[in-house]
Amino acid sequence: MSGNTDRADSGGTAARAVRGWGIGQGESQAARLRRRFPTYRSLQQRTSWRVPRFAYDFVAGGVGDGAPNVAHNRAAMDAVQIVPRYGVDVSRVETGVTLFGRDYAMPVGVAPMGNTGLVWPRADAILAAAAQKARIPYVSSTVANFSIEELARIAPDVFWFQLYGLPDDNHRLSFDLIARAERAGAHALLLTVDVPVRQKRVHDIANGLSVPFRLRPRTLLDIATSPRWAIEVLRHGQPRFANFRKYLGEDASTADLAAFAYSKMTSGLTWEVMARIRDAWPRALILKGPLHPEDAERAIALGFDGLLVTNHGGRQLDAAPASIDALPAIVAQARGRATVLLDGSVRSGLDVARALALGAAGTLAGRAFLWSVGALGEAGGDHATASFREEIATVFAQIGARSVEEARRATVLHPNAMAIGPAPATAPPRLEPVAAD
Ligand SMILES: Cc1cc2nc3c(=O)[nH]c(=O)nc-3n(C[C@H](O)[C@H](O)[C@H](O)COP(=O)(O)O)c2cc1C
Repeated sequence: MSGNTDRADSGGTAARAVRGWGIGQGESQAARLRRRFPTYRSLQQRTSWRVPRFAYDFVAGGVGDGAPNVAHNRAAMDAVQIVPRYGVDVSRVETGVTLFGRDYAMPVGVAPMGNTGLVWPRADAILAAAAQKARIPYVSSTVANFSIEELARIAPDVFWFQLYGLPDDNHRLSFDLIARAERAGAHALLLTVDVPVRQKRVHDIANGLSVPFRLRPRTLLDIATSPRWAIEVLRHGQPRFANFRKYLGEDASTADLAAFAYSKMTSGLTWEVMARIRDAWPRALILKGPLHPEDAERAIALGFDGLLVTNHGGRQLDAAPASIDALPAIVAQARGRATVLLDGSVRSGLDVARALALGAAGTLAGRAFLWSVGALGEAGGDHATASFREEIATVFAQIGARSVEEARRATVLHPNAMAIGPAPATAPPRLEPVAAD
């Protein structure tokens, strides 16, 4: 494996991408990991036996029995076909992209995920460091286990912040979190609107999931069969909602912070509140959750810069359309007036290419990154970014695309595209020009 593939560059040759699979090379540790854990599934499986059941289900699960919306996202993604073009010189493939005026090395970033420390202690910090190294967006959650300030220090060049509404006292805390994100240098703010109420997640209820852990016999058994995880948790302590320490005091217990989060965080992100946030936030503002073109239009009219098409990874409304199926209708509605991103079952470079071919300017992934950390601990962040880098370069070459811009013009078959809103344009709007490095 060439050491070059670990560099945070945005270009690469198809040959170099193939070397990444460890074929015929003296192996580095990174290459060995890529050979042993080449897929999302292999990382998910390893996590499933390394971490307690309640932590695994918290990530894998959706809402109702069998997590139907998670499965729906996957089936919809698999149904998207790209018609490859050949005869193109793909000896050099660029994966770089400019989003909201900043250059990133790949059109995939880390989606905001709360309480990732349940899966592996320090997961937020591991992923932030990997994103900074790979120069891809890192989105920190309101309910992360590291604070805005800590994560911004780890990932200063790629740091974005996601907000859930805290409506008490006319959104005093929402605006304080926004001010903290601005001071910390966040390049973009995402407003999550697809959690209007807390949903009933049946697996979490069945597992008795709570923060801090309630030590029932079954939880204890779960923990006892995950010794490596238990040692890490003993070393680092139980995960806490770090952003709220400022409001409860540095010594606030895990239980106090959790009680605070559950009582204060009840969304309340109405269009009126979002208009106030638009006035207060000077940088890129992204709506996380529009699935209906009319919501996209409303956000554009309010001055949002970006739209992240998502159904929260199948974790909110089991009847929601798959995000990839909603994507073309939102792209068509936006008509280039806002940058459209996608998340939901982005597991590999191929899924990134599918989203680009359907008009997205970039993607985020949640579980693909978190399984990697659950499976490999500290090495998991770099492993995930390296896998995406290799896979994106490989699939671009396979479909005859030498850049993100060309991948967005690929011919695509999409049998389940959502049929509301304006007809999709024949070609997606151009991206911002990529500034020369
Ligand atoms: C464990 C977990 C925690 C999440 N926490 C948040 C959160 O705090 N805020 C948010 O806006 N979205 C949250 N999400 C949703 C992700 O941002 C993203 O929309 C989703 O994970 C994408 O789907 P994927 O996991 O299939 O890539 C969470 C997702 C997971 C898996």
